[in-house]
Amino acid sequence: MAAILMDGKKLSQKIRDDIKTKAATLKENGITPCLAVVLVGEDPASLSYVKSKEKALAEAGMESLDIRLPQETNEKELLAVIADLNKNDKVHGILVQSPVPKHINEETVNSAVVPEKDVDCFHPVSVGNMVLERPGFLPCTPHGILMLLNEYNIKTSGAHAVIAGRSNIVGKPLVNLLIRRNYNATVTVCHTGTKDFQKHALQADILIAAVGKPGLIKPEMVKEGAVVIDVGINRVPDLSNQKGYRVCGDVDPAVEQKAGYLTPVPGGVGPMTIAMLLQNVIQTAQKHGG
Ligand code: GUN
Repeated sequence: MAAILMDGKKLSQKIRDDIKTKAATLKENGITPCLAVVLVGEDPASLSYVKSKEKALAEAGMESLDIRLPQETNEKELLAVIADLNKNDKVHGILVQSPVPKHINEETVNSAVVPEKDVDCFHPVSVGNMVLERPGFLPCTPHGILMLLNEYNIKTSGAHAVIAGRSNIVGKPLVNLLIRRNYNATVTVCHTGTKDFQKHALQADILIAAVGKPGLIKPEMVKEGAVVIDVGINRVPDLSNQKGYRVCGDVDPAVEQKAGYLTPVPGGVGPMTIAMLLQNVIQTAQKHGG
């Protein structure tokens, strides 16, 4: 039987409608929630991501301060822009689109955003707070995945979650969230050093693919009826498409016949990331209002 597709677009719209109401209330109190969106360079995928974020902010009645810097921007210049945004009272959140050009140290940039405005949850203090379960922001993509699991009543307690990928954005934070007592999952993380990926993957009640390799997860790696979360957003050349490429996930489409639940790409995890970002901006703007 084909898997139930987990509709991230629909759930994210519901969350965004709720955020819109909260933004309107804040505005009545004289606060317009504002996110500074910084993009360095012209990477087409990054440009399309930041545009989606800015559009979502506008639709929710929030402001975005769109900052586009040339590819040649050096680290010192970028840090100066971030320092200004840190001081700017009208800006509640700061997002520097990742990846930054290779001549800029991403860790230095992530540590430059004050934790109070770190809506991505990339600053070491934000990450520490998240791991220790202290108040603070939750990282957008992992949080979005948890919201989707919750929406489809997927039981995480006692479940074996297998995560493919150990990135700072998805894999690492997701382990920490899934092992919290309220989620209570047992987690295995697989990566390039893993010897027999298929053996681990087949044990998963919940399999999360966040590696950035198109179609990596094949049906023979998936337990019958498992929940499969596809975090991949890969552009693959496709001349039959007007854009010259199409977007596909880390999961082979044939997995739909084996999984119990599956997040589509596009329309699964991606929209949830944006909804959680808006939620983090509202959270910090509300604090700002006292
Ligand atoms: N690049 C890919 N995903 C993200 C994200 O969630 N935030 C930022 N800042 N950059 C990204």
